[in-house]
Amino acid sequence: MYLEKLELQNFRNYERLKINLNSHINIIYGNNAQGKTNLLESIYVLGITKSHLLQLDNNLIKIGKNCCKIKGIVRKNKIQSKLELEYLSDKKILKIDNQEIKKVNEYINNSLNIIIFYPEDLEIIKGSPNNRRNFLNLELSQLSNNYLTILMEFNKLLKIRNEYLKKFNKGQKLDITYFKIITNYFVDKSYLIYKMRKKFIDKLNENCEKIFYEITKLNNFNIKYVTNYTDGNFDDIKKNLLEKLERNLNKEIKFGSTLYGPHRDEIEFFINDKNIKLFGSQGQKRMAILAIKLSEIPIFKQFKNTNPILLLDDVFSELDDIKKNNVIKYLADDIQVIITTTEIKKINKKKFSSVSIFKIKNGEIIRTEEVEK
Ligand SMILES: Nc1ncnc2c1ncn2[C@@H]1O[C@H](COP(=O)(O)OP(=O)(O)OP(=O)(O)O)[C@@H](O)[C@H]1O
Ligand SMILES: [Mg+2]
Repeated sequence: MYLEKLELQNFRNYERLKINLNSHINIIYGNNAQGKTNLLESIYVLGITKSHLLQLDNNLIKIGKNCCKIKGIVRKNKIQSKLELEYLSDKKILKIDNQEIKKVNEYINNSLNIIIFYPEDLEIIKGSPNNRRNFLNLELSQLSNNYLTILMEFNKLLKIRNEYLKKFNKGQKLDITYFKIITNYFVDKSYLIYKMRKKFIDKLNENCEKIFYEITKLNNFNIKYVTNYTDGNFDDIKKNLLEKLERNLNKEIKFGSTLYGPHRDEIEFFINDKNIKLFGSQGQKRMAILAIKLSEIPIFKQFKNTNPILLLDDVFSELDDIKKNNVIKYLADDIQVIITTTEIKKINKKKFSSVSIFKIKNGEIIRTEEVEK
């Protein structure tokens, strides 16, 4: 899959933009605050309907305007389709091939498959466990419609269960049978979420060690899925979780919240058995995240039957020249990549078979160059 054309109207600092993209490598360059990140963000929003920067939708509209539009022509297995997203401050209109799609899930499932790497991704390693769970939830929701549905059901059950625990805490007399039924449903959904997340991590682990090595020349990079209800025994998750919940009911009532389950799960990253969060350098953390994102490419190919589009925001900053070139070498593959950078001179364009270069200034493209080998 690749994005052939992108058109913006009143998106962030772009009043109007029309751009024809290369099916292979695209480099967007320019000084700070000119609109490089905004351009990638628009592609992400076109695919996922929300910004990766977790901001208010209204911030996407150019200041002083009241609506914005993003349009794209996509080519997927030789078939072209047209995507359109329009934001009017409190309303979002989604269209595929001129037909309005009311269900967001359905739109996401049929629009762009995107893997994005951006500076704030460092929080996946450095930040709180919530950042890591968000990462898993976002990627898995893109990969599987089913995951998103189960996650929403899980969240609903978790909320009901927590409300019940709070009522117990206040000494209210409650229906124990009902609470047990809720707990059983909660365990069922927890198991499904655990299983899908674990499978995803296993698949990442099949690729990321090799990719991390190619970029950094360091061995033994891996990711671990960590739960607080298995006690190291992964054979019978459902039984383990139910036992944990039953055994710790009093503690849960005291806290008024569910203490065990995938909403408390974690992932950890290691190089040679050393936890990167605690021991890794800033550059190693960046490279670890990049290796993970690149490891998702074959997973997307397998699940979605098409190549994803790779968006790399500022991937080269903080990397020494050797690592920059290792990343570039790795990108010389067959998927569409859109990279932003402030330093075009540091990129060896000869490594790519086909590359389009766009210079951005103040929300406009001021120079375009195409290089074919
Ligand atoms: N809703 C908006 N309306 C108008 N301008 C906006 C809006 N949101 C952001 N901007 C402007 O967009 C510019 C930032 O663009 P962007 O983040 O894409 O920069 P960048 O080229 O990626 O810079 P850097 O190299 O620093 O990452 C800022 O000047 C900001 O004021
Ligand atoms: Mg930027």
